[in-house]
Amino acid sequence: MRVEVAATDDDLSGVARTARWTAAARARETARPDRLFDDPYAALLAGADGEALLRHFHTGRAAADGNPVLPIRTRWFDDVLRDSVTEGCQVVGLGAGLDTRAYRLDWPAGTVLFEVDQASVLTYKRRRLARVGTVPRCECRTVATDLTGEWEPALLDAGFDPAARTVWFAEGLLFYLPAARAAAAARQAARLSAAGSRIAVDLIGTGIFRLRYMRPFLDKLARAGSPWRFGTDTPAEFLRQAGWAVERITEPGAAGANYGRWPQGGVPADFPNLPRSYLATAGLPTGRPGPPPDDAPAASGDHR
Ligand SMILES: C[S@@+](CC[C@H](N)C(=O)[O-])C[C@H]1O[C@@H](n2cnc3c(N)ncnc32)[C@H](O)[C@@H]1O
Repeated sequence: MRVEVAATDDDLSGVARTARWTAAARARETARPDRLFDDPYAALLAGADGEALLRHFHTGRAAADGNPVLPIRTRWFDDVLRDSVTEGCQVVGLGAGLDTRAYRLDWPAGTVLFEVDQASVLTYKRRRLARVGTVPRCECRTVATDLTGEWEPALLDAGFDPAARTVWFAEGLLFYLPAARAAAAARQAARLSAAGSRIAVDLIGTGIFRLRYMRPFLDKLARAGSPWRFGTDTPAEFLRQAGWAVERITEPGAAGANYGRWPQGGVPADFPNLPRSYLATAGLPTGRPGPPPDDAPAASGDHR
């Protein structure tokens, strides 16, 4: 006899659980009077597991006040999407996780948003959101796939149109992928993009993997089954090699990504041995790039 096992809150494991962690950070931000955004669904999606993960991974001051990187990052991606998405645009969230932008942002008419992630995460999200009966503010389609494999067919099956202008975003994703797959994801997005398309990503620097004081944090991630694998110190080169025309690279706390939440102004650019992370946008002004070779070297290698 076949027994159907119902999905429960425990069904997420490994890197899928990190989606609850970032949802918990958004719930914490939403509770602040000076919040940078309002995510009314974040607490529901994070659940007790998300709060526990937030406490587990954020130590010291970050545990008490909240690490400013996550709210800054979310607000920055919100702003890029608000500025970039025009009527009839496609939006693709790679590693969308428990992001609720489809439900909480105002979208231009005709926007189609594709949420790409593992099936377990998308199922969990659907079930949780069904409890409050919320509906997306644009046409939202889910794409269950593995971003370390061939994900293009699943996106096309979901109705993605390579001839339409697209805005891609990958928030909190690329450093969980092997270097070659992170590069392939950025390249694949460029190949699937029409003229005028854009991409926004966050990346981490390689210093994080060398700094002794980062080691306990990295070890915790690895023990949780969600190691950080990929970093680059040349984010512009990473995007260029993928076929994108780089527009802007900034860092949380620096110009354009401060929001008054990081008074000291981010990590000084010329200061060695500090953990760095990058927020980058790029575009495709003239349409699809000539295909870069599949064996083009990644801008930086694997760290695990
Ligand atoms: C830290 S979470 C970020 C989620 C969301 N973008 C956010 O900012 O809250 C990382 C997400 O990437 C997804 N992810 C990581 N590796 C993946 C893979 N190989 N295929 C599909 N999704 C993946 C995880 O399932 C998770 O939802």
